[in-house]
Formats: sequence, C-alpha cells, structure tokens
Amino acid sequence: MKIISVVGARPQFVKLAPIAHAAAAAGVEHVVVHTGQHYDENMSQNFFDELGIPTPDVNLAVGSGKHGAMTGQMLIGLEEVFEEHRPDWVLVYGDTNSTLAAAVAATKIHIPLAHLEAGLRSFNRRMPEEHNRVLTDHSADLCLAPTQVAMEHLANEGLAARSVLVGDVMTDVLLATADRVRNAPVASPIDTTEPYVVATIHRPDNTDDPARLASILDALAGLDKRVFLAAHPRLVAKAEAHGLKLDQGAITPVAPLSYPQLVQAVSAASAVVTDSGGLQKEAFLLGAPTTTIRSETEWVETLEGGWNQLTNDPADVATSVARPAPTADRGTPYGDGNAATLTIQTLADHATQP
Ligand code: UD1
Repeated sequence: MKIISVVGARPQFVKLAPIAHAAAAAGVEHVVVHTGQHYDENMSQNFFDELGIPTPDVNLAVGSGKHGAMTGQMLIGLEEVFEEHRPDWVLVYGDTNSTLAAAVAATKIHIPLAHLEAGLRSFNRRMPEEHNRVLTDHSADLCLAPTQVAMEHLANEGLAARSVLVGDVMTDVLLATADRVRNAPVASPIDTTEPYVVATIHRPDNTDDPARLASILDALAGLDKRVFLAAHPRLVAKAEAHGLKLDQGAITPVAPLSYPQLVQAVSAASAVVTDSGGLQKEAFLLGAPTTTIRSETEWVETLEGGWNQLTNDPADVATSVARPAPTADRGTPYGDGNAATLTIQTLADHATQP
C-alpha cells in the first residue's frame, strides 16, 4: 500500500508524526508532501526535527497568501504529485487550506481520499476551517473520526457508511511527548519557578480587528500571574499593524514553542488561555484548566467538568482564569494513544487496489 500524506501547517506536522511512525512500522510506502503553508523554522522544520518525522519528499513552498491564491497554487502542485505517484490513498489532516487543496486535487483525478480528524464541527461558518472540514468530509472516501461526537456529526450529514472511529492521533503524540519531557526536561524560555499562564492567540476573528485584539491583550496583561504568550506570526504581524504592544503588564511574549517545550510548559501551568483547537485538547489531556477565547469549540469533550471554559468576551477572561481548578475525572474521550496504528490498519482494510 502506498499513502501520500499532505501537510502544511503546524498542527498537521504534529499529527503526521505518529502516522509516519505507524506507517514505517507497518512497512507501508509513505510519501510526505509539505505544501509550504507554514515556512518559518519555528513553525515548520523544528517540528520535523523534534518529532523525528522524515523530511518531506516534496515541498511545494507555496507560502502565505489570500485563501484562494494559496489554495489554488497548492491544487496545481498537488495534482502533479498525485499523478506521478498514483497512491492508494491521499491522507489529509484536519481543516487547513492545505487539507482542502489536497482533497480537491485527489477527488478530481479519482484517487481515494481519507480525511483524518473528520467530523469535527464548530458550526461557525465564519471560520475558514469550518468550510475546509465540511468540504473535505463530503469529498472523502473514508472519514477517520477522532471522537464519538464527530461520528455523530458525520452520521447526521449522511456520511455514516464512510466513517470509522479511529481516535485522536494528536493524543498519541501528546502522551508520548509528555512521557519524554517528564523523564528528560527540555530547555525552554518558560520559567516554571513561579506560577504562570500559557497563552496563544492566532485566529483571524481575534487578531484582525484592532479593538478586539487590544481588549484581549488588555485582559492578558491584567492577569495576576505571569503570562507566557507564545506568539504566532499572524499575532505578531497584526499587533504591529494595529500599533499594539505584546510586551505589556503580565505578558511575556515568547517565540512559538517547539512541541516538547509546549507540552512541558502546559504540564506545569496554572492555566491556559487560547483560541487554538489543538491546545484546548492538549491542556485538557495534561490537566491544565483552560479558558478558550471563542464562542464555540469543536472539542466539546474538553468542556465536561469545567476543564475548558468558553469565554468569548475578553472582559470575562480574568474571572475564568481565576476559577478553582476542576476536580472532575476527565476520562479518555480521545482514545488511548493508538489512533495512528488503527488509522494505518483501517486504510489497509479499505484499500481497493491489490
Ligand atoms: C493556519 C490554519 C489554522 C491553524 C493554524 C495553525 C487555515 C485556513 N488556517 O492558520 O486552521 O489553526 O494554521 O497555526 O489553513 N506566517 C508566517 N510564517 C509562517 C506561517 C504563517 O509569517 O510560517 C504568517 C503569514 O504571513 C500569514 C499569517 O501568518 O499571513 C497566517 O498564516 P496562514 O497559514 O494563512 O494561517 P494561520 O493563521 O497560520
């Protein structure tokens, strides 16, 4: 069996890691294509190095741009690659523009498409990710769902027959990395000697309007613990364009963290404040109370027992962060860390070519 994985943005490199390892263990031919959507060293190459992912076989080096231009350029490049390799599966991850481009490219030339992290929904049509994931699920031949809730969304949209629950591959890599940093701590810009909060903000809905970004930064700056703000390039660029300082009050801005640094930082944090989907789940799995600056979440399981709280109004962030740490049992809604192995097995079971 031959699989082409298409990745382009930071969280996809994390999800690729356990898949690359499981594919190698199963003796599957695995071609990795990087679209180049994320290209800064600390947004891309460092993840390949830290997580032991083989260098991509192809890098389309598409870079940043408007949604249409970026997706279109990827589409052109991916069609060539898929025609050359003719894999049994194109495997796409999550909800980025890279995912949508690969989904369109594969289905147009009749190459079976499998979507990992299928069935997640925010039901917020303003998010580019929501369009990307809905379009990808409906063009996929195989929807690989991370949770029971995702399976229900797929069934509600008539996709049950093509859907398989495999669990969450990010959980695989998180659990393995948490073990690793517990045994061998990594050097990090996060000072863990005093109580602290880990924060990330990168969604257009939070960064692109100057007044909204200003009020989010105000809220973080006013917290009573040091706030390490791991600044995504979009946040840095928008803050500068709006004339806003990241370095104010309680905030200590730091460059985007490596994956082991992030896991280590969140493991010992008093709280997390974020608008990232992945980080909400990572914080939940690591037991860090989280405040999510959004009005909805795809990872609804994190809300159980109050571990994660949706706080769309920046004025409410301080109260949310100050709430007592939840004690409710978190259970294992995201699987036991074997989703990647199950994913490769499921792809082999459903491959149509001999
Ligand atoms: C993308 C994904 C989002 C995911 C996020 C993870 C889409 C629609 N969105 O959002 O779902 O949560 O990745 O980080 O695909 N930039 C750099 N260097 C880089 C990458 C980006 O400077 O290495 C700048 C670009 O100039 C760009 C901005 O950051 O304008 C945003 O990058 P983009 O890839 O468009 O979207 P993200 O916000 O990263």
